[in-house]
Amino acid sequence: MQNNLFPLYESELGERTNPYLLLDRKSEFKSKFNLVDLFAGIGGFHYGVEAAAQKFGKGINTLLVSEIEPNSQKTYKINHKVEVRGDINGIELSDYSSNADIVTAGFPCQPFSNSGKKRGLSDPRGQFYFRIEEIIKHFKAKSFILENVPGIKSNGGGKYRAELSHKPAVIGQSMHFLEENLLNLKDYEVKWVEVDSSDFGSPQVRRRVYIIGIHRDYTQNLNFHFGATPKNNFMSIVDEVIQPKLELSQNQEDNLRSFMKNPPSYKNGMRRVGKAYLCKGGNVGQGYHAYGLVPTLTKVWARFLPIYFPSSEENVPDVNLKTFNPGPNYGHGYFRKVSVREALLLQGFPKDFIPNENDGLAYEQAGNAVNARVVEKLSEFIFGHINQ
Ligand SMILES: C[S@@+](CC[C@H](N)C(=O)[O-])C[C@H]1O[C@@H](n2cnc3c(N)ncnc32)[C@H](O)[C@@H]1O
Repeated sequence: MQNNLFPLYESELGERTNPYLLLDRKSEFKSKFNLVDLFAGIGGFHYGVEAAAQKFGKGINTLLVSEIEPNSQKTYKINHKVEVRGDINGIELSDYSSNADIVTAGFPCQPFSNSGKKRGLSDPRGQFYFRIEEIIKHFKAKSFILENVPGIKSNGGGKYRAELSHKPAVIGQSMHFLEENLLNLKDYEVKWVEVDSSDFGSPQVRRRVYIIGIHRDYTQNLNFHFGATPKNNFMSIVDEVIQPKLELSQNQEDNLRSFMKNPPSYKNGMRRVGKAYLCKGGNVGQGYHAYGLVPTLTKVWARFLPIYFPSSEENVPDVNLKTFNPGPNYGHGYFRKVSVREALLLQGFPKDFIPNENDGLAYEQAGNAVNARVVEKLSEFIFGHINQ
């Protein structure tokens, strides 16, 4: 086996964890955690929280789900079989009287991401924070998880010392403003942490900031310890069905292949082949070796991501190991895009998730979602405190 190109995985074969969630939706759980799922998308948080609840022998009862976009609402409803409300600002909170165990919110990231206009909390979308806070208080939540892109840390300019970060950090105006408000939540211990989903067993490099709050009735001091999870790679979620529609355009394929004589670059567990090229949709990308991690899926990037399955003449890891199902493309020097199913598995969603019937929307929704495998781990940590 060639191992110097693949230092990350060599010692880890045989100890892998499942990269996507395995959920039991047949059993009736007598005891349940109450969930409020805001900016719910297609329900990545719902899945992760539910998987963690099951580790405590519990199910999930959704008190409120809010998602404004009709196609995402539809996908959420089909998969989670609960009512989905619309605009978070249009919900009459006095209609709800139960208390929540956990409030989740992957609030819109455009104000903070590199592709957005970087107006931070002065942007009306940045103001969503105050509505989330109101909802946390209304539902007397025992805990919450807020998620955003790493750009939120530096957004808005300025340099401040982080006070709620898991480890020392310098932050910009937006995060500082958020911290000031979170510090005012006197009933909660709050800390934020930046996590890469590949550190939690997902084959995708996806760094996100997670702000976690637990009511002071349940903890006086938040110290994150999630435990080490061995890395997985794309081969661990490969879809066995080859679909002709996943082939690259001739132009894209020629472009990638014309640079294949260059040595592959290997960084952060991602083995890139070919050279960056411009493709439809305006994004720049390279091919990614199937035996490695893939980069962050986004709304656009999810449906253009080219995966390279090496040929048998190449000196590549022998994947005829019991730990992998290499799929029919491996060993054939083959390029193709990721399938909708693979995009969802890269986000940790369970295998039986029903995607939108329109592939374009399905990729978009997958790229927009939170990684459910990460949510599972964070929720397990939270339930360890509040499950009494
Ligand atoms: C970053 S995505 C969250 C995705 C979600 N975590 C998932 O797993 O699919 C943000 C979501 O907020 C929704 N959204 C934006 N404005 C909203 C509003 N005013 N009320 C409710 N949802 C809103 C968007 O449609 C989008 O689906």
